[in-house]
Amino acid sequence: MGDVSRRVFLSRSGAVAGSLALGGVTACESGDGPADRQTGPEGAGAKAAAFDPTDWESVRDQFPLTRDIRHFAAFVLAAHPRPVADAIEQHRRGLDEDTHGYLEEHQGENEVASRRAAAEYLGAAAQEIAFTDSTTMGLGLVYGGLRLRPGQEVVATEHDFYSTHEALRLAADRRGATVRRVRLYDRPSQTSVDEIVGRLTATVTPATRAVAVTWVHSSTGVKLPIAQIAAALAELNAGRDVAEHVLLCVDGVHGLGVEDETMATLGCDFLMSGTHKWLFGPRGTGIVCGRREAWDAIGPTIPPFAAEHFGAWAGGVAPAGTDPGASNTPGGYHSFEHRWAVTEALRFHLDVGKAAIAQRTREQATQLKAGLADLNGIEVVTPADPGLSAGIVCVSTGEVAPAGVVGSLLHRKIAASVTPYREAYLRFGPSIVTSPDEVDAVLDAMRELS
Ligand SMILES: Cc1ncc(COP(=O)(O)O)c(C=O)c1O
Repeated sequence: MGDVSRRVFLSRSGAVAGSLALGGVTACESGDGPADRQTGPEGAGAKAAAFDPTDWESVRDQFPLTRDIRHFAAFVLAAHPRPVADAIEQHRRGLDEDTHGYLEEHQGENEVASRRAAAEYLGAAAQEIAFTDSTTMGLGLVYGGLRLRPGQEVVATEHDFYSTHEALRLAADRRGATVRRVRLYDRPSQTSVDEIVGRLTATVTPATRAVAVTWVHSSTGVKLPIAQIAAALAELNAGRDVAEHVLLCVDGVHGLGVEDETMATLGCDFLMSGTHKWLFGPRGTGIVCGRREAWDAIGPTIPPFAAEHFGAWAGGVAPAGTDPGASNTPGGYHSFEHRWAVTEALRFHLDVGKAAIAQRTREQATQLKAGLADLNGIEVVTPADPGLSAGIVCVSTGEVAPAGVVGSLLHRKIAASVTPYREAYLRFGPSIVTSPDEVDAVLDAMRELS
């Protein structure tokens, strides 16, 4: 990072000096200036000297991904851009050289910095952020912790990933609740906001306590109109007690790091997401962001290592639970070097710009869908409309198995993937590590194959 970028980095990070026992977050309120930051990924500052966040080639240069392959499946599991890799390395070295001392000195400030960065990125409060290891862990914590009464139900959809369906099944089994699934569209490429919102809200009953949806379907590439769904549910909630409100819970992993949204613009109650896909954060990291009042509906599943919980335990009293994010962050020692480097992943995206990343992704996805639509023997499954799609582009290859096409593409140095669902499609993910020229290369290869 050059001086200018580093200044941006420092002024935005505002980490808190001083140790903070077990990552409690009262210190979130203090220490906002560069001078307060005692630690930082010095390696990132030194190595990324030429980084220009306004130049897409420079952005791509931050990734060690080989240029021999066009990485259209990079979103499946993130590569670490240089600032993230450098931060992990710095923390790892510190922990290896003096594990106890480094932890004592830096744990508090690093956890505060990560929560502040996540809060800034999502337009939320730090206390609304819980950290996890993955989307799946976040889904398990929210649905497993949801205080469902016997007879209450959760409405999910047929388009959600395994992790949502299974987290709900396990939760419902334990609570005596039920889960119903609604099909939001029959033809993904032809769907509309009205169809999706109409089918979903028609399924809600007085027994519905939560609606579980996925922001961008990894099965079809359809992006749900979360804000419109939230508005429709708000109308239904207007006539209900707060404790009976239908909570809107979103698996956000294929929207986070792509779309230029905040918790306020989405309007959902909970967003669960790994930070190790489109956000290109450290592998094995994730977040849950919940509206402060919505967290009241959730009980922690795994004992948190938050200061107030430890203090209450030591004092033999019930924890007050004033910080829902910390209270719902699973405790236990873990891969701190990765957890703390989430800060640099979020900073990297904020420096490049959420709006710029959304536009870059949208342009390539649109270019890809338009080109694919002209080819014989295949059908673009994902809507052309950027309002109903994000970075994922799914293609039906007719009689030809998509796995075979993935193999042929790899032969041509293009990495794509197959959707992990009963109805499998060929799937591409243009992103900040691909380019419009590479989209053309994909189209040339698909032309040869079709
Ligand atoms: C919609 C969706 N949610 C969750 C996951 C799992 O994410 P994680 O590895 O962060 O649990 C995937 C795929 O990996 C997915 O497609």
